This record gives sequence, structure tokens and C-alpha cells, in this order.
Amino acid sequence: MPQHAFGNSDFGLLDQNGKFHQLSRYRDSSAVVVLPFSFHDPASFQIAEDFSTVLDQFTDQNVQVWLLNASDEPDFIRAQERSPAGLPVLIDSSQTVAKTLAVTVLGEMIVLDPGSANVMYRGLNSIQELTPVLTELLAARAARRPSRLQEPAGTMSGTELSYRFLDQFAGRQISYQTEIVPLLQARCAFCHVENGLAPWAMNRHLMVLGWSPMMRETVITRRMPPGQIDNSVGDWVNTHELSDYEMALLIEWIDQRGPRDGETDPLAETRPDVADWPLGQPDLIVDVPEQAIPATGNVDFLVKRTNIEIPQDKWISAVSYKVGDKSVLHSLLVYAVDKSLQTDDADELIAQINADYISVYVPGETDDIFAQNSGYLLGADKDLVFKLRYLTSGRETVDRTQIGFYFHDAEPAMQLSTLAMEKPDFTIPANTTEHIETLTSEPVANDVWLESYSPHAHSRGKSMSLTVTYPDGSEEQLINVANFNYNWQLAYRTAELKKIPAGSVFRAETVYDNSASNPFNPAPESDAAQGYQFDSEMFSHFIRLAK
Ligand code: HEC
Repeated sequence: MPQHAFGNSDFGLLDQNGKFHQLSRYRDSSAVVVLPFSFHDPASFQIAEDFSTVLDQFTDQNVQVWLLNASDEPDFIRAQERSPAGLPVLIDSSQTVAKTLAVTVLGEMIVLDPGSANVMYRGLNSIQELTPVLTELLAARAARRPSRLQEPAGTMSGTELSYRFLDQFAGRQISYQTEIVPLLQARCAFCHVENGLAPWAMNRHLMVLGWSPMMRETVITRRMPPGQIDNSVGDWVNTHELSDYEMALLIEWIDQRGPRDGETDPLAETRPDVADWPLGQPDLIVDVPEQAIPATGNVDFLVKRTNIEIPQDKWISAVSYKVGDKSVLHSLLVYAVDKSLQTDDADELIAQINADYISVYVPGETDDIFAQNSGYLLGADKDLVFKLRYLTSGRETVDRTQIGFYFHDAEPAMQLSTLAMEKPDFTIPANTTEHIETLTSEPVANDVWLESYSPHAHSRGKSMSLTVTYPDGSEEQLINVANFNYNWQLAYRTAELKKIPAGSVFRAETVYDNSASNPFNPAPESDAAQGYQFDSEMFSHFIRLAK
């Protein structure tokens, strides 16, 4: 029987189609039934298939059914032509959700309340038993009375789920010194520093211990580390997923209640200061107009223009950010506009016809080094425009951020340009959980190479993806930002430049959640229109291409 110290919890997992499901985002559903199963276990597979006979009735009752697969290889699951009863198969390859739900055998159905993440009932392994149980559970909840059901005592029959990570840990105490600290340093602590944007610093054992229940929740819902994508699509670097092993290890340590070993605390050792400009002295330093940030409240997106003077056109090889106050600056997009552009209007300054996207800063990503031998042409006739997002930190401050530009000495072999796939006008109806907008590009005129991709939306953005249709008609998904969070507008970079032949067409898709189930949504009762401000929405996919 697996141990789980913190009871039931919200969680988030990808399914076989790359769609992200977070339990609490289904709080509008009356219940979520989770069935642990394996493609290789005939008994649980059969129960899953049996759902096809009752699924309509469940849909009418607004009940979700999820198959939980903590047994088979993710690649194998995703390669299946179809899933039993066409249901979503949640891929729990770290087995941490199975552990949290205390799954022991395959085929044991668990009924969850998506609002509270509580287990409403467990101990069923046939659809015939499930139907009356659900009816009673839902009737009891509607009448605000306790249910008359008793959970079956004793153990369930079924194939035991083999916990490969827990077996590996074999009941031993996880080492804070040699296992947990290195993991935190690699994955978390570079953001969780003193005076950083994260609300707490991972600077000693006691601190981590105190925050550990929250750490558990943020990693199992995939909120932390930020910027995670669907790793099985494309070959991208600077993404932020924990490996299955790291996930299982961290959660096991937390469930052991964060034991400590060793005399010293490696997290408490002070780290050397990083240089102001880790890439060396920039060729051009540009001041972002300084911003006074209040102590509390919500600061809207800001759009600012700055005049720059360069004697002649330059090829940018890298951009580096020296952030003034790391506790407030949450993201910064950099664009170039013509000096001759006569406008102070924020929407116009960043409109696709006027602005050329260059780069983005988010916490933890201070250096944007373009692919080798490639450069972005910054004309002498350009000004810069910034789109800034600030958080408040509890104290008044003034942010004075600088941007360092590095130039090539001569024209590089490959020129970078940004294909901005943006929609200037669209509306998302109020109270809609899944509103899909797509945009298709013109066929690319010449062969190009995909260098990086940066998705941008506001608080209703739920997932963003990019697909290419090749001249022969075949399709390939290039990237799947399955759990988009507007606070983390990262630029994802291809591990190697990826060739997109002439005649190919890009299709960008953004899925929006304009319902109350979206915890970031400022106004679920209103339609959302396009605009730069926080309560508006944007559809922007920035595709940096080399040619
Ligand atoms: C790229 C920077 C970054 C990394 C890496 C990162 N965090 Fe965070 N973390 C933040 C920021 C910023 C916040 C503040 C909330 C937000 O913006 O989502 C935060 C918030 C948190 C919170 C508090 C959540 C709350 O609701 O108060 C916890 C717990 C946490 N992080 C744990 C972790 C763990 C564990 C890791 C590593 C596995 C990690 N973080 C990695 C930046 C980061």
C-alpha cells in the first residue's frame, strides 16, 4: 500500500492526445470517475471498454470518466490507435497520481469530487456497481445530506499495480543532502532566491520543509517548474519538466515528511553573485523606461516605446536581460518598430503590421542566444517597443531594467526573422470552457529553418500549439504547450534547426478557457475581445525562422 502523507490532492496529467487535464479545472462536473488500467491487463481493460454502454448516460449527468495509466510506457500509450470506449487515457508515468489516490490494484474505480479533490467513493470494479453508487452520491450531494453508502471493506480483486519507483526506493529514507538538494538546485532554486519573483527562497531545509505540502501540490499539478510542455512532441530545449524519476523522488521525500541527513545544509551555502552581463559587455545597452510599481494591487500590461541610435543596421546574435527588480518584473516582450511610425497607441505599437517581435524575458531566462551563425537584422531606422507585465511584491519599488544587445561583426550565414501569427480581431464568448481559435499561414516561399517558438496569450489561454502541413499534404505537430500559463510566456528553442520546406503551411491554435473554472480568469461573465490589456485577450504565436 503506497504512503501518501497529504491526503487527496488536485493533479494534472496529459492524455494520449496531448491534452492536459487538471482535476480542479473540472469543478463544473458533478464527479470524475478514475479507472486505473493497463492495455496489458485484460480485466481492467474490459471494465474500461464496458463504459461505452453507459457513457451517454454519464455525459448527461455531467460525469467525467478518466482512464489512469501508470503501467504502460508513454510512447506505447500514445501510439495506440484508439482508447477503450474512446476515453481519455491519463499518462501517469511517474506514478505519483496513482500513489496520491492510493491505487493498489488495476480496475478499482475511484469517484472524485473535482471541486475539493476528495475521494467520494472507492472500491468498485464493475459498471453495474458504479451506476447506482453514482446515482446515490449525486442525489446525496444535491440534497446536501450524507450518502447512505458504505465503502466495501477488504481488499479488491485485480492485478496489483507495480510501483516501479517506490520499489526502487525500497522503503529507505530519501537523502536530503545527496538527492533532494541537487534536484532543487537544478530545477527550482535558481528562481526561488531571495528578492526574486517567487514568493519564497529555497535557502534552507526548514524553509523547504515548511513549503513542502505546497511544493507537492505545485509539482503534481505541473504548475512548477513553470513552462512545461508536452515533451513527446518535437525536440525542444529549455523546457522545464521534471523527469518521472525526479517527480517520484521529490514526492516520496515530501511524503516521508522531508527528513534531513548530514551536518551541513548545502542549500544554505551562499552562491557566488552572477555577473551583471554573463555573456560579457554588450554592444548596445538599452534602458527600459523605468516603472514605479505600487506595493499591492494589479498592474496592467504596459506598452512602452524607446528611441535607440545605432549608426548602421546591425545583426543581433544574442539578447541579455539585466532585470532591475526581480521581485516584480514577470515578463518583457521586445519588438522593433519603424522610427517613422507615428503613434502612441499601445495596441497599434504592438500590432503585427507595425511591430516585429525580437525576444522575450521571463524569470529564469535572462539570456536569449540565437542559433549559431544566425542573426536578427536590427535596422538603424528602428525604435524598440516593450510589452511589460509586473506583479506587485508588497513593497513599493521602481524597476530599472536594461537590455543588452550583442551584434555580429559581419552578416551571419543565416538570417532570423519572426513570423508572427496573430489575430487582430476575435471574441471569446462568456462562460466557455473551451474556445478554439486557429490561424493558417501563407505557404512559406523558400526553405526555412525553425529556430524558436514563443506563444503569447492572456489569462484565458489554456493551451497553444503549432502544426505544419508539408507540401505533400502530410502533417506534423511541431510543439504542444498543453498547459499554457500566461505568466510564463517562454521562448522554446529547437534542439537543432528544423527544416520547413518551401510550400509548407503553419497552423497555430490557441484554446481559451473563459469560464469560472479558470482560476486566472478576471471576468468569466463577459465576452473577451482582442486587446493588449489584462482583461482582453491576444492570439500571438511568434515563430522565429532562419533562412
Ligand atoms: C522559472 C522560475 C521558477 C522555477 C524554476 C520554479 N519556480 Fe516555483 N515559483 C516561481 C514564481 C514566480 C512563483 C510565484 C507564483 C507564480 O508566479 O506562479 C512560484 C511559486 C511557487 C510556490 C508557491 C505557490 C503558491 O501558490 O504560493 C511553490 C510551492 C513553488 N513555486 C515550488 C517550486 C518547486 C518545487 C520548483 C522546482 C520543482 C519550482 N517552484 C521551480 C518561480 C519558479
